[in-house]
Amino acid sequence: MIEANEANTPRKEPGRIAAMFDRVAPNYDRANTVMVAGQDKRWRRAVREALSLQPGERCLDLGAGTGVSTVELAKSGADVIGADFSLGMLQAHRDRQVPLVNADALHLPFDDNTFNAVTGSFFIRNVDDLDACLTEILRVLAPGGRMVLCEVSTPVWKPYRKAHGVFVKHVLPKVAGRVGSDPDAYRYLSESTLEWPDQAAFADRIVKAGYRKVAWRNLAGGAVAMHRGFK
Ligand SMILES: C[S@@+](CC[C@H](N)C(=O)[O-])C[C@H]1O[C@@H](n2cnc3c(N)ncnc32)[C@H](O)[C@@H]1O
Repeated sequence: MIEANEANTPRKEPGRIAAMFDRVAPNYDRANTVMVAGQDKRWRRAVREALSLQPGERCLDLGAGTGVSTVELAKSGADVIGADFSLGMLQAHRDRQVPLVNADALHLPFDDNTFNAVTGSFFIRNVDDLDACLTEILRVLAPGGRMVLCEVSTPVWKPYRKAHGVFVKHVLPKVAGRVGSDPDAYRYLSESTLEWPDQAAFADRIVKAGYRKVAWRNLAGGAVAMHRGFK
C-alpha cells in the first residue's frame, strides 16, 4: 500500500525504497528480464568478468536483491556475499545457494578493509546519499581492492539517446505495468533512470569520493554502464 503521507516523503528515503522493493519482490526477476528484453544475463556476466574475481577472494554484492547477481559472481570461485535492505527481495531468493545479509549499504556491518571487491548492479541509483555510499564502499574495500558498479546510464549515439528517453518515459512504465504489480514502482523506475547522472558525471563523483583509476565501460550502447574504481 502507498502510505497516505507518501507525497511528502523524499523519493529515495530508505524506508520508502525498501518497502517498494518488498512489494515488487515476488515478481521481480521475471519482470526485470522482460523489461530489459533478456539482456540482464549478459550484463551480469559482464560484471563478473570486469571484476576478474579469483578463488578465495572476498567479494560483496550490494543491492543483491533476490541474489541472481550474487550467484553469477560466485561462479568465479570467490567467496561472495550479497547484501540488501529489502527483506522481501532477500526472501524471494528461493533456493539460491549464496549467503545473503539484510543490511543497508550506507551502514555496512563489516570491518574496514574486508573485501577484495565490492560490486552492485542497478542498486546505486536507489541510494539517497550517493557520496556517503561511495565512502562506505571505500571503507570496507581492502587497500588495492576494486569496485564495479553497473547502472543505467546515457546512450552515446544521439538518435538512440532520444529514442531511449522516449522509451524510458512513456513505454517502460506501460511494460512494467503489464509484468509488475506496483504503480509507484513503475513511475519511480522511469524517473530515477532519467535523473541519473551520465557516465562522465558519475565517474566524477567516484573520483571525488577518493577512488583511483576510475573508468567506465558502456553496455547496450550506453543505456547501461559499468563504472570501476580502486582503493
Ligand atoms: C533494481 S534491484 C537490483 C537487484 C539485483 N542487483 C539485480 O541486478 O537483479 C535494486 C536493489 O537494491 C536494493 N537497495 C537499494 N538501496 C539499498 C541500500 N541503501 N542498501 C541495501 N540495498 C539497497 C533494493 O532493495 C533492491 O533489492
